[in-house]
This record gives sequence, structure tokens and C-alpha cells, in this order.
Amino acid sequence: MQILDGKKTSEEIKLEIKAEVDEIRRKGGKIPHLAAILVGSNGASMTYVNSKIKDCEEVGFKSSLIKLSDTVSEKELLRKIRELNADEDVDGFIVQLPLPQHIEEKKVIKTIKPEKDVDGFHPENVGKMALNLPGFLPATPYGIIQLLQRYNVDTTGKHCVVVGRSHIVGLPMSILMGRNAYPGNCTVTLTHSRTVNFKEICRSADILIVALGKPNHITADMVKDGVVIVDVGITRVPDTSKKAGYRIVGDVKFDEVAPKCLFITPVPGGVGPMTRASLLKNTLLASKR
Ligand code: GUN
Repeated sequence: MQILDGKKTSEEIKLEIKAEVDEIRRKGGKIPHLAAILVGSNGASMTYVNSKIKDCEEVGFKSSLIKLSDTVSEKELLRKIRELNADEDVDGFIVQLPLPQHIEEKKVIKTIKPEKDVDGFHPENVGKMALNLPGFLPATPYGIIQLLQRYNVDTTGKHCVVVGRSHIVGLPMSILMGRNAYPGNCTVTLTHSRTVNFKEICRSADILIVALGKPNHITADMVKDGVVIVDVGITRVPDTSKKAGYRIVGDVKFDEVAPKCLFITPVPGGVGPMTRASLLKNTLLASKR
């Protein structure tokens, strides 16, 4: 069993990005600038956005954090997005999800200029991903792809089972793993809440990518020997022994599943840091364009 170490790999990627930024600075070029809009005060969203800003500092990017109240109107949020679309200094920006109920997420995503959509959520970028055209890949799937690539995980001809069909992870992951590219060229099964024979399908997976949000859902009896597992789950579970009052738990029961794996991502320290590094990669790409 080998750990797919997202923390270590993301540190390597950040060093590569920092070296590029140092070179840009030396030549007097434009420093990449990422902006983030955070609506409301959801604890997890605040943590994620603050981490993204901290990452920018680490690699030498410029960053801006725009905090809006959870009572902000949809119209006001869209106005802010148009302002960032027009701001020539901002290379890319994200609107942290989820948004309050009164704001229509689809409308928000469609308002972001595709050239600045470093989350890769705009329909234009989703279409480009599906057609294997250059665009922005969503950060979590992009992070997973890079992790598989850097560990030379064999994917060609394998049965890849993706658990969960979210627009952020499951759906794009199913598209990417089926692409005629490496990593990819898998035979893909996308499972979801209506899937019949879920356990049997998981047991037939050579590569199992789990993005369900249910702590410890995948147990040892649900996977075969030699499987490659990517655990995207990051649920906060109350834990009074921790300073923060919670710990992060993945979708896979790591201790019992790991011994059966060829490769497995830990939680934390697997997909999470790769997602963050991928957002930086997309921002650097946006600034070059
Ligand atoms: N919420 C959970 N994951 C993400 C992400 O990758 N981007 C944004 N904008 N919001 C999220």
C-alpha cells in the first residue's frame, strides 16, 4: 500500500509556482492576482477561503478577499462579479459555494467571465473540459488528476467507479477519467443515490473515487484487493479533544480499507491540499493568458 501524499505533492507544486512567480517578478511582469468572494459566515467556507488567500501569499500572488453579508441581494452579488470581470488587475476569481438560499447559484456561475473562472464552473469551461479543449479544470478534479499523474498510477483500461455526481467533483471526475488522455482512458461508472447494486459496483472498481460527504461510508468489504482509492470526503465531526472542536473525516474507513489498497489518499492530507494547489495553477494560467 502506498499513500498518495497530497500534502507533499501540493508543496512541490507550490514551489514550482513560486519559482515561476519569482521569475515573473524579476522580469517586471504582472503578478498573478486571485480574488475570492465569500458570502455569509459558514464556518467551513470561511476556513477554505482563508486558506486560499494564505496559499496566494505563500507563492507570491496578489489576493483580494471580498466579504459580503449573507443578506446581500443576488443583484448586488452579480454587480460585484461584473466589477471583478472588468477589473484588469484581477486575473481570476472564485465565488465560494454554497450560497444562501435566496441566491441562484447557476446565475452567479454564468455571470463569471469564463476567462477568469479559475474554479472551472462556468458552462463554457465545463464544455471545454468535456471536449478536451484548453480551459480551466475544476480545482478538485484537477488536483486528483495531478496526484494520479505524479504517482504514475496506471489508469488505462481500468474500471473507475466515481461515487457522487456533484457538479464540483463527481461529474467532472467521471468525464476526466473517461477521456482519451493520461490519466484517463478508464471505463467509468458514475454512481449516485439511485444506483442499484452499489456495493457490487464498488467491489468491481480498480479505481474508486469517493465524493459523497458521508464519513466512513466505504468499508473494507466494499472494495477489492489492489484497488486505488481517492477519498474526497472532508466532513467535520465534533471532537472535544481537538482545539478546533472538530476533526476532519473522509468518506472511506481508512484503517480497515488501506491494507487492501495499491494506493490511497489520506484525509486530511490527500485531496484537500491538491485542490488548493490546483486553484493556484489555474490562477497562474489565467494570468499568462
Ligand atoms: N465549495 C466547495 N468546494 C468549492 C470549490 O472548489 N470552489 C468554490 N468556489 N466553492 C466550493
